[in-house]
Amino acid sequence: MAEKQTILLTGGSGFIGTNMVRLLIDSGHYRVVNFDALTYAANPSSLDDLNGNPNYEFVNGNITDRELVSSLFAKYHPAGVMHLAAESHVDRSIVSAEDFVQTNVVGTYTMLEAARLYWNGLPEQEKKSFRFLHVSTDEVFGSLGPEGYFSEETPYAPNSPYSASKASSDHFVRAYYHTYGLPTVITNCSNNYGPYQFPEKLIPLMILNALSGKLLPVYGDGSNVRDWIYVEDHCKAVRLAFEKGRPGEVYAVGGGNEQKNLNLVNQICSILDDVAPPVEIPELRERGLQSYKDLIRFVTDRPGHDRRYAIDSAKITRELGWQPEVGFEVGLRRTIEWYLTNPKWVDQASAGSYGEWIEKNYAWRAGKESK
Ligand code: NAD
Ligand code: DAU
Repeated sequence: MAEKQTILLTGGSGFIGTNMVRLLIDSGHYRVVNFDALTYAANPSSLDDLNGNPNYEFVNGNITDRELVSSLFAKYHPAGVMHLAAESHVDRSIVSAEDFVQTNVVGTYTMLEAARLYWNGLPEQEKKSFRFLHVSTDEVFGSLGPEGYFSEETPYAPNSPYSASKASSDHFVRAYYHTYGLPTVITNCSNNYGPYQFPEKLIPLMILNALSGKLLPVYGDGSNVRDWIYVEDHCKAVRLAFEKGRPGEVYAVGGGNEQKNLNLVNQICSILDDVAPPVEIPELRERGLQSYKDLIRFVTDRPGHDRRYAIDSAKITRELGWQPEVGFEVGLRRTIEWYLTNPKWVDQASAGSYGEWIEKNYAWRAGKESK
């Protein structure tokens, strides 16, 4: 069997990173160095089972730390980088963009610059096969009306501080290809869901709020649309883009699965009513809760809330043979099942500064609460 390639993967203790690390290790082709600062969004226990695995190594550190980043290239001699580390929550970026600028912009620049210097010194063959894969988002394209799709040709129009910071990082990646020839590839993906997602994001937030009898806050009138993709499908696209993507290219990745927020929350409630009926949970039975749908509340809208995202994935399908495999009904049930069967992970993720942050910073969405 060919020798395993080493990938320097940033953000491996977050949601998509954890799934990505698993996919790569399970493939048997890679050794993964997970470089992560373990921010509030990370859950180190997600990868506990890989401790001691010769194909997995964890480095606790910040991608803005230039000296550390350079030392990792020298130490591990990676065949490529998968760059996922980021501040990822739009609502947080509305409260303060500081960490978004530091991590997403300065951190990406720091990774690129260290990668460039390392790459310059590689022998010709390794130089040719090296890839810097940057995992980005469809939010850089702004907001769609009722018709049309984002594609690789869509002009950038970021509307939130988060998407502005991701757009900036995309531009740096592009510039490093055009200016220095660093073999970069960018993927711009739509909304992911699945196991290990931090409970500040819509789907896990709704599942966990419902199960503990808390209100389900739907922003605005709930008619904003997102294109949901099961996280494993996204990770497969990233792997393909890393292995087969052409340097300098961008690939748009979507689930082909548009959902209005309110419909999605109703679907979550219906599945929960089926698999964990409120009448079987003593506190909820005592409160007389018949259906989780009774917990839905419309709250003040997110400032600058993008109306609709939808992706045309034709290029990655045509060029790399990728397409999503997990249907939404199956993926959503699987996700709900995962949160129901991993209470320890949920407790760990919900502990720490998360609750406090919500209390302090979500004033803007507590303004209106009506059914
Ligand atoms: P996440 O917030 O769950 O995880 C981010 C990880 O990055 C955490 O483990 C965190 O500790 C780490 N990190 C943050 N700042 C760091 C720093 N300065 N140095 C080192 N590590 C740091 O995010 P996610 O949802 O898994 O997203 C991963 C990537 O995918 C991000 O770049 C995001 O923009 C992109 N993306 C996410 C989605 C989505 O729906 N979640 C969709 C498209 C693209
Ligand atoms: O499109 C890709 C992006 O998807 C990623 O780049 C981001 O990292 C990821 O967080 C996600 O961004 P969104 O803002 O779309 O995801 P979020 O889960 O925060 O919200 C999804 C939709 O649900 C959005 O329209 C806002 C709405 N929402 C969200 C929350 C947290 C609610 O109605 N209520 C809520 O409590």
